[in-house]
Amino acid sequence: MKTKIIKVTEEIEYRKIINEIGTILKSGGVVAFPTETVYGLGANALDEDAARKIYEAKGRPSDNPLIIHIAQPNDVDMIAQDISIEAKQMMEQFWPGPLTLVLPKKDCVPDGTTGGLSTVAVRMPSHKLARDVISAGGGYIAAPSANVSGRPSPTRGAHVVEDMDGRIDAILIKDNVEIGVESTIVDCTTTPPMILRPGAITKGMLEGIIGQVQVDKTLLEADSKEAPKAPGMKYRHYAPKGEMVLVDGEVKARVEYIIGHATEKLKKGEKVAIIALGRSLQEYQGPTMSELHQMYQGKIQVHNLGDDLQPAEAAKNMYKLLRHMDTQEVDYIYCEQVPSHDVWAAVSNRLNKAAGNKIITV
Ligand code: TXA
Ligand code: MG
Repeated sequence: MKTKIIKVTEEIEYRKIINEIGTILKSGGVVAFPTETVYGLGANALDEDAARKIYEAKGRPSDNPLIIHIAQPNDVDMIAQDISIEAKQMMEQFWPGPLTLVLPKKDCVPDGTTGGLSTVAVRMPSHKLARDVISAGGGYIAAPSANVSGRPSPTRGAHVVEDMDGRIDAILIKDNVEIGVESTIVDCTTTPPMILRPGAITKGMLEGIIGQVQVDKTLLEADSKEAPKAPGMKYRHYAPKGEMVLVDGEVKARVEYIIGHATEKLKKGEKVAIIALGRSLQEYQGPTMSELHQMYQGKIQVHNLGDDLQPAEAAKNMYKLLRHMDTQEVDYIYCEQVPSHDVWAAVSNRLNKAAGNKIITV
């Protein structure tokens, strides 16, 4: 399939582009577009055949349901029913934005979109281009992240082209995304509502509006035997091809462990990357590291995940860095563990998954 790649820069062409994309979506095609969280891969959510094409393009297991994206809050009433007061309060406060709500579905939503579940996940993005695409495509667009299943989610147009060129009808490119990590998912069919996937809207922010919120316990226990409530969370997602470990502990011990193990791998001819968090970055700039850089030129790299106090910065950098590991064919990735409390929950959750829960405490 020939994929049309469109950079949305020219204001003057904007309407024409949107109309063209609308036509593709209405006739059952698949189009990638930016949202404020990550790039999405959209198709008409109410057309089972169109939704099926998304699964094909991503190589996604068919039991993993899709989020339906809407452009106006009231449109939720067409696809969901028995909407709780808490759900309405969350919509009021956080829509448009990075919050997905799981609600009882109406019959018009086909099984092919929800993986046969009786609920539907709904989100209204804040990204203007995303909303214009959704409206032009008929108002109900199923859109998972626009990556091949199992790869890190795309946060810039080039990532989408890397994964989707030749597999879908069109790719719309505009800027790098603002947030960098997928939306928070809240199941509104339980009391109290339950976070199924952490994102930029934190537990604290939700509790400030609706009171008590629970968290799917599989998110809190890495070795839980239970299946996560969001079917997609059971897969080893977001993973780079190289082997990744998270290293936890006091700065000195952490740095010692990482440099020691990196050296062992370098000696064996492997390519190594270190992902450091803010202030500890300087610990990887001393004489030992200079020596390693000299001895093993091009085989070792050090990256900054972001400021220790700025989870939003880490969120923005994370997938780009994980993809960079693949482009550079890195064999071993040593990443410093981030905090896991409230504002860090999303980054911590994705890094844990990228590492397949391999955490070393020193
Ligand atoms: O930020 C986002 O949410 C991005 C952008 C493109 O909007 N989309 C996204 O979609 O992350 P996706 O398909 O990559 O992740 C959707 C997650 C999966 O884990 C899926 O299992 C879960 O939502 N999900 C969808 N419908 C559900 C439902 N009815 N009940 C529980 N989980 C559901
Ligand atoms: Mg995804």
